[in-house]
Amino acid sequence: MLYVGVDLGTSSVKLLLMEENGEIKNIVTREYPLYFPKPGWSEQKPEDWWEQFVSGMKELLDGFDRSQVDGISFGGQMHGLVILDRDDHVLRPAILWNDGRTQEECDYLNITVGREKISAYTANMALTGFTAPKLLWVKKHEPEIFTKIEKIMLPKDYLAYRLSGVHCTDVSDASGMLLFDVKNKCWSKEMMDIVGIREEQLARVFESYQAVGTLTAQSAAELELPESVRVIAGAGDNAAGAVGTGTLEHGMCSVSLGTSGTVFIATDEFAVDAENAMHSFAHANGRYHFLGCMLSAASANKWWMDEIIGTKDYPKEQEGIRRLGDNQVFFLPYLMGERTPHNNPNARGTFVGMTMDTTRADMTEAVLEGVTFALRDALEIARSFGVKIERVRLNGGGAKSPLWCRIVANIMNVKVDKINSAEGPGFGAAILAAVGCGRFASVEEAAAKLIKVVSTTEQEQELVEKYEKKYQVFRKIYPALRPVYDEIVK
Ligand code: XUL
Repeated sequence: MLYVGVDLGTSSVKLLLMEENGEIKNIVTREYPLYFPKPGWSEQKPEDWWEQFVSGMKELLDGFDRSQVDGISFGGQMHGLVILDRDDHVLRPAILWNDGRTQEECDYLNITVGREKISAYTANMALTGFTAPKLLWVKKHEPEIFTKIEKIMLPKDYLAYRLSGVHCTDVSDASGMLLFDVKNKCWSKEMMDIVGIREEQLARVFESYQAVGTLTAQSAAELELPESVRVIAGAGDNAAGAVGTGTLEHGMCSVSLGTSGTVFIATDEFAVDAENAMHSFAHANGRYHFLGCMLSAASANKWWMDEIIGTKDYPKEQEGIRRLGDNQVFFLPYLMGERTPHNNPNARGTFVGMTMDTTRADMTEAVLEGVTFALRDALEIARSFGVKIERVRLNGGGAKSPLWCRIVANIMNVKVDKINSAEGPGFGAAILAAVGCGRFASVEEAAAKLIKVVSTTEQEQELVEKYEKKYQVFRKIYPALRPVYDEIVK
């Protein structure tokens, strides 16, 4: 049988076709635009996701026996607000996870209502990218739209809805809405009251590996697939990515170098830290995880390569970097503000330390290092809870660069395990589809059968020491510049 994993990302939707033995038969990517209507705002059109998904599916399945397709599932960009009216029309462009417009709403939730209360209701604090503050923003700034909201969804759930007709979500993605009682895995009555919404507007919640239904007659006809194809709830992209890298056992860690950069730590039991320094979310295997998220990771590198130096040949550009650890240039990757650990939408991207002999390669290297230092900030929070992190599994577009893997190993002082598929969320989604269709008894069983470590990048002691010194300098730059960022934005 065949399983489709859909990774609904920020720059593109990636579709992956997997055989039940884990072999990847085809991968298709379709891009769509990202809109920045104001500095710090970030939006996308849900109709673009659907159109590109449908067109990509046609190419994905071309030449394959469609009657063999058993299930479809998802890993999706988290937190985005998708709202529909009573006729199922999208009411406004989706407000995405990296949108920073809701500082006022977050202050209301964290200060006026109080962070402790919000954390007691949801296991998290309000952060600008999360969904509930966006609803408050729409309520205040677009009241005529707010009153028309019939359904509230997350990005991947919009696709699942168009496919199955079921208004569904899964526990991992619901966790990032700030409307979900993560510990008890149900909608929070208190949060619904605070935001002014009704439970009927929210989706039915499933475990990530559960089937929500099958294709509707209309979607089956559009995709030329049998109506019997099952739609499996899927997960937020980080939890799906963790399934795809086999990050399932307590204490295991994966790092994603995608548009966002994340540090993901699987936990058996529900837990929340007193400061809400990391997000506390449900995992796609029925358990829980901690997550730290920086907003511009591989996207900072993409910005540097595509927009600034104007190249598409990333490997060639990285060939110019000869020696690691001696670069005097630092880069702060806060191009969309920053979430973990600064929680400051006003933070900005910054190069520091150039001289007349600084080269283009030094700047390129600084971008890769700066993103990794920023990710280490999240890792250090987890380490401060006493979590021992000695190895990580890397996924996301940036993981394809051997140079970046080496930088990660040495800046984080960890072993970096590469597994048989680099397609984290898409592969994880296909695995969830196979589990949801009954091909495997559990996510763990599927991962044990389908995921293998194929190589390991070890840290190099001399480089670890050099980077340790540089990291201590990196940590001083943001606090020094913080007042400047606030002035720039005001
Ligand atoms: C996680 C987060 C990002 C998005 C990216 O909290 O906001 O990783 O899910 O797609």
